[in-house]
This record gives sequence, C-alpha cells and structure tokens, in this order.
Amino acid sequence: MSSDLEVTHTHPVPDPGIEEHVERWADVDPAASRRAERQVAACFGAVPLLALGFVVVYFFVPKTWAVQFAGLHAPAQHIWLGLLGGVAILLVGIGAVQWARLIMGDHEISEERHPAGSDPAARDEALEEVHEGIAQSALPRRKLIGKTLMVALPSLALPALVTLLDMGPWPGPGTRAATIERTIWAEGVHLVTDVTYKRIKAVDMAVGELVNAAPENIKNLEHDPAAKAAATAKAAIIIVRMDPATIKIPASRKDWQVDGILCYSKICTHVGCPISLWEQQTHHLLCPCHQSTFDLGNSGVVVFGPAARSLPQLPITTDSEGYLVARSDFTVPVGPSYFERDSSHDYKNGDN
Ligand code: FES
Repeated sequence: MSSDLEVTHTHPVPDPGIEEHVERWADVDPAASRRAERQVAACFGAVPLLALGFVVVYFFVPKTWAVQFAGLHAPAQHIWLGLLGGVAILLVGIGAVQWARLIMGDHEISEERHPAGSDPAARDEALEEVHEGIAQSALPRRKLIGKTLMVALPSLALPALVTLLDMGPWPGPGTRAATIERTIWAEGVHLVTDVTYKRIKAVDMAVGELVNAAPENIKNLEHDPAAKAAATAKAAIIIVRMDPATIKIPASRKDWQVDGILCYSKICTHVGCPISLWEQQTHHLLCPCHQSTFDLGNSGVVVFGPAARSLPQLPITTDSEGYLVARSDFTVPVGPSYFERDSSHDYKNGDN
C-alpha cells in the first residue's frame, strides 16, 4: 500500500492542554461551602411556596380584576400566575446552576474524540462514570439540598394540575346556550356599520357591495370592553347585495333576505378567522386563513377548503323606514364546529 494512503492522527493545532486548576472558594473555605449550600437550598425551598401562591391566586384572585400599565390591559390573575410560575421555574434553574458551579465535583478532564459507538468495556466505563457523578454531586453528604429538591420538583406539578381545571366543567346544553350558541342578535335589532354604528338602509346598498356590520345593541356594552369584545367576536356579520336572479334562495329562507341583500356570520366555520374577501362575480367569500370558500349565492355552502359547515345566515328584513333589522338571532351557532354541536339545522345541499 502506498504510504500516501496512510492515515496519520495529528492535531491541526497544538494541544493547549488544561489550564492550571484554580480552587473554588467553596472548596477551600468551609464557611463559603456552607453559604453555597444554603443558597441552593433557599432557591429550592422557595419553589413550593411559589407553587402554593400560584394555587391561591388561581382560586382567590377574581378573574374580573385587571392590571393597567403602559397601555397594557390584562387580567391580574394571568399576570400573577405567570409571575409565580415563571419565578418558581427560574429558581429551580438558578439552584441547579449554583449547585453545579459551587458544590459538585470540580475535576477537569479532557478526552480525545473517537469513533461513535461503544464496546462493552466503554459502556462499563460509562456506568462507572455515572456512579462517580452521583458521588460527585455531593448528594449523599448534602442532605439538605437533596431533600429540598425532592420537594421542589414535584411541587412544580401542582400549578400544571390546577390549570387543568380550566378545561372543565364540561359545557352542558344550558351553558352552551348561554355562551357559544347565542349572540346578541334578536328580532328588531338594527344592522349598523361596524366602526361608525350607522344604520344601513336597504336602498343604499348597491348590487355587488359588501358591508362589515354589527348589531346596534353592541353600543350598550361600551362600558365593559371585555363583554363587548366577546359579543363582537360572535355577532360580527357581513352584508352582501346580489342580483336576486343570479342566486339560489331556498324556499325556507325566502324571507331571510331583502331584494338580494343577505346577511352572514363573518366568522369562518373552520377555526374562526374573520372573513371578508368577496368575489362579486362568483358570489364566493374566501377565508384568508386556510382558503375555505363559501358560496353566498347558495346559502353559504362550502365550495372549497377545510371548513365543514356552511356559513350561518342571519335572517333580516326592514323596519318601517327601510333600515335593515334582524328577524331573530342566528338559527345555528356561529363559528367553528365543536363536539356537541347540533348540525341538524345547517344548510347543506338541500332546502331546509
Ligand atoms: S379559519 Fe377559515 S379556512 Fe381556516
């Protein structure tokens, strides 16, 4: 074999070796060693208190309390839960870092890189190192650290378990009817533009026009921003006007529209994005999130995309002065599907 192919193991740069070892204060001064131990134990010891604080805040700080700071408006409970949970995790981290820096064994080693994979002898050696690591962690001697850590780590599960309560209680029919299945639309409520709250006259809408609108009674919630936001999220609508000769109106919905003016929920039935990308010519409404497309000229059925239900239609008429008003609330829940939803009133392909 040619000597050119011989492999030589050389260092690309000279091996600088290991720097001179400097003893840590905690290794040479027993008082510093005890201080380090107390520091680590204090970090771990504070964690259960913070976890308990988390639980207390969760149950006793009212959800209605809010924090206003530099333009931020947020529920006080969320702020405190975040602070207490975050600091608890931070203290576990700080305690672990200080433990490693000041107390664990301080032997410096260097090792040549070698091919991946290990033989039985190497595995035995690794096991030995694990045992040596346990010995170096000083846990057998530093019982206080071990005990506080044993309490600190399990206590972190407490906040996680408590927040699982937010997933319940299971919403029964009554709860659903009072929350996600009803909006503030009702018979006689005027349709108003969503920014200026101006009533909309049927004769003012041109064929091909789309208007983003809201129920007039949303103004009654001005004093309560959270309630207003929740109501708006469900009651937002779009109004479109199409040539009646070009659209299909089921017999059961004949009086849900006014001369080709139809009103639909603005909330996509896929996962709830607000929609208003309107193609006048095809009467299609396109959701920008995942491209679900609804045919507003055919009762809002889905013609493309992941949405599983047609867009809910709001029955409308006019008052004595020609302004658009709702005939009732939506007849089906608006927004994304959910497990218990009754879909028997959805418009699919037939007339219902
Ligand atoms: S939210 Fe509309 S398509 Fe996904």
